[in-house]
Amino acid sequence: MEKSEPIIHSSLRTVEWKDDKVVMIDQTKLPNQLVFVEYNDYNQVADAIRTLVVRGAPAIGVSGAFGLALAALQSSAATKEELISDLEKAKKILFETRPTAVNLGWGLDQIMKVANNRTRVDQIKESVINEAKKMAEDDIKINKKMGQNGSTLFDNNDTIMTHCNAGALATVAYGTALGVIRATKESGKNVKVIATETRPIQQGSRLTAFELKHDGFDVSLIPDTAVGYSMANGLVNKVVVGADRIVRTGHVFNKIGTYQVATMAKQHGIPFYVAAPLSTFDLKTKAEDVIIEMRKGSEVTGIGDKKTAPDDISVINPAFDMTPPELITGIITEKGVAKPPYEESIKKLFEGT
Ligand code: MRU
Repeated sequence: MEKSEPIIHSSLRTVEWKDDKVVMIDQTKLPNQLVFVEYNDYNQVADAIRTLVVRGAPAIGVSGAFGLALAALQSSAATKEELISDLEKAKKILFETRPTAVNLGWGLDQIMKVANNRTRVDQIKESVINEAKKMAEDDIKINKKMGQNGSTLFDNNDTIMTHCNAGALATVAYGTALGVIRATKESGKNVKVIATETRPIQQGSRLTAFELKHDGFDVSLIPDTAVGYSMANGLVNKVVVGADRIVRTGHVFNKIGTYQVATMAKQHGIPFYVAAPLSTFDLKTKAEDVIIEMRKGSEVTGIGDKKTAPDDISVINPAFDMTPPELITGIITEKGVAKPPYEESIKKLFEGT
């Protein structure tokens, strides 16, 4: 159900559990309207993830968890076995919405673990909801810690380039890459941001530019094609982006175009950082086995309702690409900053977890 009057909040909270419903910002409406949608059915949450009402790796992880919490409330199961079976069915539907960000599967697995550890139906329902709520609160704490860890890498008067949206709108609040920029500013340093437009669906112009302006940052928008120009002309000191999946070798999967930005940064000797929580790491899958989501051609053949390409043109529209470890200066996490060689430093991040 959509509320007719947009509600303007001073700080953005992307997804939230309220009165047994999931409330989220409809990101497809930004930057023109800040509209909140409410869901009481996990199928609606699955649709919201699929259609990018909510997007960004940590945000879809928490949304998936809230989806399972709704599934628990919706279930009329009388026994633990029946309830687990209902949850497994919901998990499959939620999991199949988007393939690349590992946080979705991570969030769903966390909830299933909690459900399986309880015995009574009422206990399972209660603990699943509590765990999903906790996951949302933890996401904000983790982003703040990551921000503090990353802020030491940035200097006063830096101009920082970012790609896509790895901000409050891609998480529950605060952000990963934009969280690092926020924490740098909060530490008293003066920073400017350059946001890439991020075609085809413009998370940079629609979301990052909106979010940073909303929060009072000095932000300039560039077309994706001006990354080289900006770097060659000394407009950028550092780059920080988010990630959808990082494998044990340090290969980073993130929004399409990240690889180009990283390659260009290397060419110009500009440090290129990735900021991501431990829940974005996938230590099991090899880089070559990660599934890159391919999206519909209409995202490329038009902008909004306006057609910008000939009819029946063949389109290749990958939503993500892979940046190899040799282009990455450091990976900022809540446990510290991993530096090359990544096989070793990533392993260390997970020691004792
Ligand atoms: O297709 P999207 O908008 O879900 O892609 C999002 C990104 O690629 C982000 O950079 C990534 O999820 C990191 S978010 C903290």
